[in-house]
Amino acid sequence: MNKQELIDILADSGKNELLFKEADRVRKDNVGDEVYLRGLIEFSNICKRQCKYCGLQSSNQNIERYRILKDDIITYANKAVDMGYRTIVLQSGEDDYYDTDKMIEIIQELKKMDIALTLSIGEKTYDELKAFKDAGADRYLLRIETTDKNLYKEMHPNASYENRIRCLHDLKSLGYETGTGCLVGLPNQTISSLAEDILFFKELEADMVGIGPFIPHEKTPLKDAPQGDFWLALKVMALTRINLPDINIPATTAMETINPNGRIIALQSGANVVMPNVTSREYRAKYEIYPGKICIQENPEQCSACIKAKINSIGRYVSENKGFRKINSDKN
Ligand code: 5AD
Ligand code: FES
Repeated sequence: MNKQELIDILADSGKNELLFKEADRVRKDNVGDEVYLRGLIEFSNICKRQCKYCGLQSSNQNIERYRILKDDIITYANKAVDMGYRTIVLQSGEDDYYDTDKMIEIIQELKKMDIALTLSIGEKTYDELKAFKDAGADRYLLRIETTDKNLYKEMHPNASYENRIRCLHDLKSLGYETGTGCLVGLPNQTISSLAEDILFFKELEADMVGIGPFIPHEKTPLKDAPQGDFWLALKVMALTRINLPDINIPATTAMETINPNGRIIALQSGANVVMPNVTSREYRAKYEIYPGKICIQENPEQCSACIKAKINSIGRYVSENKGFRKINSDKN
């Protein structure tokens, strides 16, 4: 689709059901009925950045910070493997404590397990990204958040849009399966810029795209901004599926945070991935990117059972392979 077609669909709420059905069909034809589970380890909530929407930003004094060290990361990963997960996602704030050497050690330990490894640890230099890849990392998540450069600048003090783009291109050229995505409903974000976001995913040749509604956090400068709209976020996701038919698309936690059935609705509107948390309860509430996050009271076993039951309840099934993008399925 071109930009105008995307804008027209995003602006018209009269045909939403048709759009979601079509995205579901494209999903089924291209990636089938299997759902990939990714075991998410939120290993540090310490962050040097100041993204205006994010509760982990360094200026938030109102949050208890934690780091999970290598041995405990390995313990959580082992548990995830025991529960059947074939991908581990390591996510954190931009925390310089985990320097290249520490990350390499963690990556090498985790890659002794028969899993695919995804990193989601923010912007890094080419050399760092290369070192992680050489150590065995398979995939990397780095949302562009918005392709509206002025809005990007406004939302990310002391950061550079160009550097984020540079990271994404480095990830692609290093051979990572590269994930990006955007927030829907940031203050002053336009429909036109959401259309540009989708075109950007296509142009980058993203392998994974995560989309979620913006949720205001009390301890951030955006505390009084309105929450992003669930259905608009779902439309951006559905259009992403239709325009990038064979990529992996998660039903995001943020979707379920603002709609009690959000992940199932997303799985039926183009998504084929879910990322359950595999850390213990003590850390979950502290990784408060936004308020109201689901699964705060649950433990990894409960989430695993819960999500599998939900997936089966809609006639889908949990995949037993590592869940590389279909074009890379030889790695599964
Ligand atoms: N609401 C929704 N999503 C958010 N993220 C960060 N802050 C918020 C918020 N307030 C998303 C960003 C980031 C991902 C890890 O979480 O898109 O890339
Ligand atoms: Fe955590 Fe359902 S996935 S309780």
